[in-house]
Amino acid sequence: MSSRPPDQQQRANQAVSAGNRIDLAGLRRMKAAGRKFAMLTAYDYPTAILAQAAGVHSLLIGDSMGTVLLGHESTRNVPLALMLVLGEAVRRGAPDVYLIGDMPYEAMVVNDNVALDAARRFCDEAGCDGVKFEAASDQVGLVERLVSAGIETTVHLGLRPQSVTNREGYRAQARDAASLADLVADARRMTAAGAAMLLLEAVPSEAAQAVVAAVDVPVVGCGAGPACDGHVLVTQDMLGMSGIRPPRFVPVLAEVGKLCGAAMRRYVEAVSSGAYPAPEHTYPMRKQPASPSTTP
Ligand code: KIV
Repeated sequence: MSSRPPDQQQRANQAVSAGNRIDLAGLRRMKAAGRKFAMLTAYDYPTAILAQAAGVHSLLIGDSMGTVLLGHESTRNVPLALMLVLGEAVRRGAPDVYLIGDMPYEAMVVNDNVALDAARRFCDEAGCDGVKFEAASDQVGLVERLVSAGIETTVHLGLRPQSVTNREGYRAQARDAASLADLVADARRMTAAGAAMLLLEAVPSEAAQAVVAAVDVPVVGCGAGPACDGHVLVTQDMLGMSGIRPPRFVPVLAEVGKLCGAAMRRYVEAVSSGAYPAPEHTYPMRKQPASPSTTP
C-alpha cells in the first residue's frame, strides 16, 4: 500500500499516465523498432499493480478466468458482468498499460449487435483500450463492425479455447502445410478488415513466422514461438499458482502456489497450537485515568 496521502498518490498516478501510458501506437513503434512487448493476464487490482510496476506493457482481462479463477472446465462460463467489474479493478491498478478486454462466450454466440455492445462496455465501463475475440474465418464482418465503431480489435487465431469443452481439446493448431496456409489466409483477411493486432495461440514457430511476414500489425504469441512481436502468458500459470501442469510454452518463473500453501499451513499450525494470536496481534485496553476515590 502507498504511504502517500490519497490525493498526492492520485496526482503521481496521473503524472505517470499522462507521459507513460502505452497505447496501440506505442506497441506498433515497439514492433517497428524490433522491441518485443510483454503481455500478461490480470483479473484483479493487486495483480495489475504488480504487473505495471514490473514494466508489463499490456494486460488482458482474459476469459481464462473461467478456468483459472472460477474453476470451470472451459472458458465458456464467464459472465460479461463479472469481467467488467474485474476489468475496472485491473484498470485502477494499472492505469498505464494497454488494456484489452477478452470477449466472453456469452457475448459471441448471439449476434454481432450483442458482441458490439459488449465491446463498447469493455471500453466505456472497464476502461479498456480495445478488445480481443476468438475469431472463426467467417467473422471478418464483426471485425469491420468493431473497427468502424472505433474499437481497437485484436483477433485471436490458432487454438481458440471457447471452441474447446474439455481439457483434452487443448491442442496445437496449424501443424501441417494446409492448415498453416489457412491460418495465414485468415490473418490476412482479419488485418485487411482492420484488426489492430493478432494473437496466435498454440501454433508452431514456423506458422507464427509466416503470419508475422504476411501482416504488418503486431502479432502476439501465446505458445507461438519467437517470431511474434509480443508474448502473453496466463499469470497464474507463470507463477505456479494454477494447480495444473501448465502447457509446454509456459515458463514457471516462481512457485507462488507452494509459498502460499506453506504460509497457510503455518497459519493453521499457529492457530491450532494457540501460538496465534500472540500479544503483538492484540489490542490493549486504553489506560484509564485514576479515579478520585482511589487517590490517597
Ligand atoms: O483468456 C486468455 O487468457 C487468453 C490468453 C490465453 C491468450 O485468451
